[in-house]
Amino acid sequence: MAKTKKIKDRERLVKLAPVTEAPVRRHVFVCNGKSCMAVGAAEVKTEFEQILAEKEIRFGKTSKGRNPEGPVVLTDCGSVGFCSVGPAVLVYPEGVWYAQVQAEDVRDIVEHHLEKSEVVERLALIKEFGTN
Ligand code: FES
Repeated sequence: MAKTKKIKDRERLVKLAPVTEAPVRRHVFVCNGKSCMAVGAAEVKTEFEQILAEKEIRFGKTSKGRNPEGPVVLTDCGSVGFCSVGPAVLVYPEGVWYAQVQAEDVRDIVEHHLEKSEVVERLALIKEFGTN
């Protein structure tokens, strides 16, 4: 495997990774592990994509239809151990782990948790990671 030459100049690193200076407030992970995918994780991710786009709050390049000033980063993640209670959706920095999320639940997570900082209690299996 070829070794990557490390960039040591912080200004250059920041320029290459604009997210470092963006006003991001939350990171949403949707599990794309096998078990979560079998019970609707792809539809959950698509619903997040659509609602975040509609509200123009997803961080990213305008060329991808996203907002460079958006406060929400949305990504996939691998299995986190919620395989029997998926699809799993994790929201940070709070560390809330939502279980059994379906596409029809996504608007609640966006409009309550992401926009009003209110945890969606009916779906939250872990309310603050590391304090259970
Ligand atoms: S496959 Fe999603 S938590 Fe395991």
